[in-house]
Amino acid sequence: MDDDARPLTAPDAGRRTLWAVSDLHVAARGNRDLVDRGVRPANPGDWLIVAGDVAERTSTILDTLRSLAERFAQVIWAPGNHELFSRAADDVHAEDKYDELVKGCQSMGVLTPEDPYPRFAGRTIVPMFTLYDHSWRDPLVTVERALSAAEGNGVVFTDQVAIAPYVDVPLWCQRRLGYTVRRLSKVSGPTVLVNHWPLVREVTARLRLPEVALWSGTRHTQDWPVRFGAETVIYGHLHIPVVTEVDGVRHVEVSLGYPRERERTLDQRRERNLWPYPVLTEPAGEEAG
Ligand SMILES: [Fe+2]
Repeated sequence: MDDDARPLTAPDAGRRTLWAVSDLHVAARGNRDLVDRGVRPANPGDWLIVAGDVAERTSTILDTLRSLAERFAQVIWAPGNHELFSRAADDVHAEDKYDELVKGCQSMGVLTPEDPYPRFAGRTIVPMFTLYDHSWRDPLVTVERALSAAEGNGVVFTDQVAIAPYVDVPLWCQRRLGYTVRRLSKVSGPTVLVNHWPLVREVTARLRLPEVALWSGTRHTQDWPVRFGAETVIYGHLHIPVVTEVDGVRHVEVSLGYPRERERTLDQRRERNLWPYPVLTEPAGEEAG
């Protein structure tokens, strides 16, 4: 085993850990290699959360998840916007692409937002898929005006050409919120909420381009972390890997990000064993949690 292939945390045979990553963007230069070498269990019983933006092509997404599922005892996936991208010439788009990915995950034992919620260390782990509805904007401005103002400032998400032509995203978001809240309301006890998009608006305050918040979540999840007993919220999307406490809940951004972004922070995060991020740990052999 060479130096880079070492697990990031010193193996402790007595414990198992739930790790989290997001925004692996394995098609970006050098990222696949970092995932291959750096996202490995410290112990065979370890689990891994992958909070969206693995890649754009279905085959690349599923191949990556398969190789992770071969290493970790359990992989839990939630989709990001990049997973939903398609081109006009593709056979499947938007909702059909999501369904295709869910089926692919289920065929290899990867848990999705459509599966029963697993438990780890006494917490319910909740992979979610809630999208965005452009509601993180000035409430006095309409969605149309906010989007065209963003465009005027040069901020246009690829989502507008790779998702929006195939589905009404705010409407899809609304349906996902209904589905998720119905399931969450049946959960009792502490939770770890997992979503590609952040759940609370506070974490978007760090955005260099504030318009990006239009594509980054929905105001309707703002009270969910407290309402649904979250100890930790795992998210990605912003490519700003920080921990923020809001209303007593820890919100952790676990992105790898694009080369220019990760080069600024990854070495320090890895030195401190914060990437992949260790969400929970418990003595091995307590799988009943
Ligand atoms: Fe991303």
